[in-house]
Amino acid sequence: MMRVLFICMASCLLVVNGGNTINRCALAKILHEEDLDGFEGYSLPDWLCLAFVESNFNISKVNENVDGSFDYGIFQINSHYWCNDYQSHSENFCHTDCQELLNPNLLSSIHCAKKIVSGSGGMKNWVEWRLHCSGRPLSYWMTGCHLE
Ligand SMILES: *[C@@H]1O[C@H](CO)[C@@H](O)[C@H](O)[C@H]1NC(C)=O
Repeated sequence: MMRVLFICMASCLLVVNGGNTINRCALAKILHEEDLDGFEGYSLPDWLCLAFVESNFNISKVNENVDGSFDYGIFQINSHYWCNDYQSHSENFCHTDCQELLNPNLLSSIHCAKKIVSGSGGMKNWVEWRLHCSGRPLSYWMTGCHLE
């Protein structure tokens, strides 16, 4: 019994340390469950392409910008406008701690992304999406993914 428990603990720790990227289809499933499919006119492939070009599906990605702000999580949400990192001035439009945007359950990131995409410009607020995803055929992002 203790042995089984130990093996579980060891592998669970492994998941926490090395598991900061999420599988494409697992992400598609969560996005679908959180009603992002068609949200503000953007399809699941749009969201998958966005996550890929922003973070390479890395849930815990943090990136510092030249202006001193930081981008957080799978959608690389910016601390200057959307979340509070307690390091620099933030509008904090999503009313959340930036650290919450790194939560593996993705709920805060999804909630905040909904707010961003609902504003003017929609997904064009993400420069990388505009450059690499917008207006391109994207349906292949769902290849092999079964949502049920
Ligand atoms: C994910 O992002 C974190 C923080 O930026 C970084 O330390 C980690 O190496 C990244 N993981 C991968 C697989 O790139």
